[in-house]
Amino acid sequence: MGKGSGYGKSILFGEHFVLYEYKGEALPAIAAAIGSSTECYVRRISSPGWKLTDSRPAVPGYKSKKMEEQRVSIDNVVRFAGIDLSEQGIHIALGGRLVCASGVGASAASCTALARALNDEFKLGWDDHQVNAASFEGEKGYHGTPSGIDNTVATFGGIVWFQRGTSGGPPTVETIKLKEPTELVIASSGITASTKEVVGDVRRMKEEKTNWFEQILEDYKNIVEAGRQGLEEMDLRLIGLLMNQNHNLLIEIGVTCDEIEEIVGVARKAGAWGAKVTGTGRGGNVIALTPGRALQRDVAGTIEQRGYSVWTTRIGV
Ligand code: MEV
Repeated sequence: MGKGSGYGKSILFGEHFVLYEYKGEALPAIAAAIGSSTECYVRRISSPGWKLTDSRPAVPGYKSKKMEEQRVSIDNVVRFAGIDLSEQGIHIALGGRLVCASGVGASAASCTALARALNDEFKLGWDDHQVNAASFEGEKGYHGTPSGIDNTVATFGGIVWFQRGTSGGPPTVETIKLKEPTELVIASSGITASTKEVVGDVRRMKEEKTNWFEQILEDYKNIVEAGRQGLEEMDLRLIGLLMNQNHNLLIEIGVTCDEIEEIVGVARKAGAWGAKVTGTGRGGNVIALTPGRALQRDVAGTIEQRGYSVWTTRIGV
């Protein structure tokens, strides 16, 4: 039996914007691995094709909504690995502690976990870069044009500065080190969004209102560059402020919803230093920066009282 795992992630800065260029240069984003991951076990079976047992914890509706995309994704990873399942197939079992919800990189975590498990079972000899490339192919099943940030964090972990390669070239991936880990609250709106649909809507908006969108991209570029410096200098007050500013831009491009706005408002009121939607948006999750265990507990508790599921984690571990 082969096994593998992939980290969940939270995007601190740059969901959606990471898919675009500003003045001919790909815009960077910053994402951090979170403490939970998806695990995958692959075992050979006598019947052809693949069978899946998906025991990952998930918000209601997540798995059924993503089922068809998941099928394409698994096919993509298996094809990339060059494994012929026409005679002898495989059984894939997914589990782990990462709760599947839009925004935590659940799809990428499962792609990386599967790539690692196949690598283990079929002795493919892949290094992490090849695992990441396989996971990227899997991500294409969930939406045709992923930036690659989710699979990169799912594979390498840590805090990552990510910039897509231009004209199909490799991305720039740099690790950002925090002087010490810090606390984050992740809260789920309970709504599962389709990344394909939301990304498509934002792209249409960009094409219809070019100048307006260009201004947003410029504002975002300033935010992410300051964000990198803030992380390197461990200036968490600044990071919180910039997260709020990033969230305002995400409101402008229409990737929020009432539930997300309620959670963001509650988190900030309860003392979070910053709060924003993370990942695809229009549902999915909010991240709130809550340095210190006590603040983390307070903010998590307050959001939970409003009926939302919360998880606590640390980034930069
Ligand atoms: C999804 O986690 C992040 C998006 O920017 C899509 C992508 O980067 O592939 C919305």
